[in-house]
Amino acid sequence: MKSNRKHNIILIGYMGCGKSIVGELLSQRLSYQFRDTDRMIEQTARDTINHIFAIRGEEYFRNLETELLKDLLPEINQVVLSTGGGLPLREQNSKLLKEMGYVVYLKASKETTLRRLAGDNTRPLLQGEDVEKKIESMLSYRIPFYEKAAHKYVVTDDKSPEEIATLIMEAYMKWIY
Ligand code: S3P
Repeated sequence: MKSNRKHNIILIGYMGCGKSIVGELLSQRLSYQFRDTDRMIEQTARDTINHIFAIRGEEYFRNLETELLKDLLPEINQVVLSTGGGLPLREQNSKLLKEMGYVVYLKASKETTLRRLAGDNTRPLLQGEDVEKKIESMLSYRIPFYEKAAHKYVVTDDKSPEEIATLIMEAYMKWIY
């Protein structure tokens, strides 16, 4: 066992890449807790992400994400953490994530993303016209950040959540032991 490594898995990636469903599966298989940064922020703020964006703006929300990670770092243990899609873009955040555990980027193509997010109204950054263009330009900007922030990436387009969870489990076991 590599004693300096923390026993947590952190899932990062764009909206709709499967962080929640894969995270739930992983947490069941490992008997870890499942946690989600968006849900934690909503609980603490007693408000929805949509409403926080609308009333306070994106910068305010990004600061909540950073504060949450700082609070989590000392206590997080045996957790699968799903993170908001924009969270690893701040360098400070991506550093904190790597200190927390094994960081995995779930990579999904524009087509897969579009299909999974069709009709979604819970993501403030994807409302309005031309969602396809928005996704395309955000993805090309963000992919380098996700790749840099992660220990490993998994292409998810052609795989079931179970298959993705198995791949991550195997890689995590090698990383930790
Ligand atoms: C965001 C992704 C969302 C949420 C917020 C902003 C983003 O999380 O944090 O709407 O910037 O990509 P999910 O990736 O869980 O949808």
